Amino acid sequence: KKSILTDTFGREHNYLRISLTERCNLRCTYCMPAAGITLSPKSHIMTYEEIYTIAKEFVANGVTKIRLTGGEPLVRKDAALIMEKLATLPIELAITTNGVLVDRFIETFKKCGIKTVNISLDSLSASKNKSITRRDYFTKVYNNIQLLLKEGFEVKLNCVLMKGFNDNEIVDFIALTKKQPLQIRFIEFMPFDGNKWNMEKLVSLEDILKQVYNRYDISDFIRLNDKPNDTAKNYQIKGYKGTFAIISSVTNPFCDSCNRIRLTANGHLKNCLFSTTESDVLTPLRNGNPIAAVIKKAVLAKKNTRNGMDTLQKFKDPAFHNNRSMIAIGG
Ligand code: GTP
Ligand code: 5AD
Ligand code: SF4
Repeated sequence: KKSILTDTFGREHNYLRISLTERCNLRCTYCMPAAGITLSPKSHIMTYEEIYTIAKEFVANGVTKIRLTGGEPLVRKDAALIMEKLATLPIELAITTNGVLVDRFIETFKKCGIKTVNISLDSLSASKNKSITRRDYFTKVYNNIQLLLKEGFEVKLNCVLMKGFNDNEIVDFIALTKKQPLQIRFIEFMPFDGNKWNMEKLVSLEDILKQVYNRYDISDFIRLNDKPNDTAKNYQIKGYKGTFAIISSVTNPFCDSCNRIRLTANGHLKNCLFSTTESDVLTPLRNGNPIAAVIKKAVLAKKNTRNGMDTLQKFKDPAFHNNRSMIAIGG
């Protein structure tokens, strides 16, 4: 069924990622420059009502899953209200958070039918977490992960790997899945404005698998079936309660099955994580104009692989990196 959310490559965009805020209570080096970013003026940030109105338009056109991101979505004052309102739509509601404030939102998550919570955790060492996040919340986040498990949530841990920093913890993270039903997701480090990306820092899918082969018997190492449109390739060690996965946007992109479209906190559509142009939906909405045409145009402008960076050569070329910082996209 063709809708305004079908692009020129036949990809149907039924998964909307909404960034609620550009603010965050952490300062992760891979996500934002040390000096921070210039925040959009408050008057340019979508209100609670505007988020709902835009989301409703997407749902009317075929969106079935909405993920809330940030910055850190839970630092927004009306985060609970937004979740409760969006939960009235016929969608799967999901959230990606740094975990710091999760204990205050357990009841809201339950009320809103949120079943899986994705949490960023890049190291199992408190001091390394401090150096990557420039804040000291490791224990808090770790306890909140345990709390989520105890309360029956599925938990995915996002671990952005960087060479010489946390790639020696791959096997420790996997060991954690022996007794805990976690899904660990190792993520290839990607370039965004101000995050000092380069290829030398990359820990690739191949690097990760090599470490797994070194540590585990090949016969105990299971490649699981991935869900449709999954960003991750999923694995499990035989007999372990949890699983692990690799998100290989750099070395093995998965754009052929992309079903995602993004809405930034200031109301711009990004048709790709790496899009260098954006479509303002908030201004037409505020002017009382229909937004379906803007959505359609943004989807039709979507390029094939990684906003056109179809080769590694192009992906490495800073000329293609005219993008926001990750903190202002939401992942
Ligand atoms: P699920 O909905 O549970 O599959 O989670 P997710 O992987 O879509 O979202 P999450 O916010 O947890 O992001 C995990 C990692 O995947 C981050 O590094 C994201 O930047 C990356 N990611 C999410 N969506 C996309 C995408 O559409 N393209 C690419 N290249 N990476 C993505
Ligand atoms: N490369 C890869 N993943 C990133 N994330 C943030 N910045 C980057 C980056 N530069 C991930 C974090 C977060 C998710 C939304 O995006 O793990 O959990
Ligand atoms: Fe989709 Fe762009 Fe991510 Fe590829 S890089 S999966 S096209 S959002």
